[in-house]
Amino acid sequence: MTNLKTTILSNQEVAPGYFRMRILAPGFVTSARPGQFLMLRVLDGMEPLLRRPFGIFRTGWLPADCQGLPPKEYVEILYKVVGSGTTLMKDLHQGDGVEILGPLGKGFELLDAPEQILVGGGIGLVPLFMLAAQLVKRGRVRLLMGGRCRDDILAVTEFERLGVETYVSTDDGSLGEAGLVTEVLVRQLERLPQAAVYACGPTAMLRAVHGICAARDVPLQVSLEAYMACGVGACLGCVVAGAEHTEQNPQYLCTCKEGPVFRAGQLLWHKLEEPRDVCGCNEEEP
Ligand SMILES: Cc1cc2nc3c(=O)[nH]c(=O)nc-3n(C[C@H](O)[C@H](O)[C@H](O)COP(=O)(O)OP(=O)(O)OC[C@H]3O[C@@H](n4cnc5c(N)ncnc54)[C@H](O)[C@@H]3O)c2cc1C
Ligand code: FES
Repeated sequence: MTNLKTTILSNQEVAPGYFRMRILAPGFVTSARPGQFLMLRVLDGMEPLLRRPFGIFRTGWLPADCQGLPPKEYVEILYKVVGSGTTLMKDLHQGDGVEILGPLGKGFELLDAPEQILVGGGIGLVPLFMLAAQLVKRGRVRLLMGGRCRDDILAVTEFERLGVETYVSTDDGSLGEAGLVTEVLVRQLERLPQAAVYACGPTAMLRAVHGICAARDVPLQVSLEAYMACGVGACLGCVVAGAEHTEQNPQYLCTCKEGPVFRAGQLLWHKLEEPRDVCGCNEEEP
């Protein structure tokens, strides 16, 4: 994990309200694992800004400089503008400074299942991209991607370029199938009962995915969003109740250190709260 004062390489709006930021990030290509995140702080802002957590969408190398300088590593995040921090971020440009702390947290465990199914709700697709890139080396991968409307469906062609089979659903039917992504999951699991499932999205969607997988004994890992102040296990602002939690014997899990990815069986699902709908989709339980 490193704390870097570094530079933005690009920051573009990719759909209404959604931005993709590429940041110079030495060390990230070799150290970042699928499902990890970083904390980002804007430097030189008008208002002092706490660090904000963002999933690592992908890492890569910029080609070597024509003057013989070595290639440079970058990290990309995809974010939705929802409040003061992300509003400040959307107005940043190439060359502006940011501070990034990462890679942080525990990412996905890659399971050797015959079929791998990724379920993304809106901006929840972010931590699934690096996971997909790893899983396609082992076999067939399907991405089930849901959102309220077509604007919430991001980066699907990038997943397809990796060799992932994609299934899109929107609540209003403006792209792909009309309906909930969880309905698509039920149909997929009827055909593929041996699958492993990996999901990220709003809590209501994750809870529904958990219900579907638990009823079929399908292994599930979920990436959670929680309020995070420090990102490194110091403030305990991000804790969620673990499966063994009771009033008498409290068991809390730190989302930033022990997560953000958890096996479904680690969590006390009825205590899990929706921090807020940041993903652009608002799945209901089927
Ligand atoms: C591990 C992790 C990975 C994340 N990855 C992404 C990502 O890849 N892309 C993305 O767009 N967002 C992601 N988020 C959510 C992102 O951190 C928040 O949207 C961001 O911090 C909001 O900052 P803001 O200053 O714009 O909003 P604020 O002005 O701080 O708040 C605006 C609203 O959002 C709520 N809020 C603030 N922070 C969070 C939070 N962490 N979780 C839930 N609600 C919050 C506030 O209560 C308020 O209602 C992630 C969060 C976590 C914990
Ligand atoms: S955010 Fe501070 S402990 Fe997790």
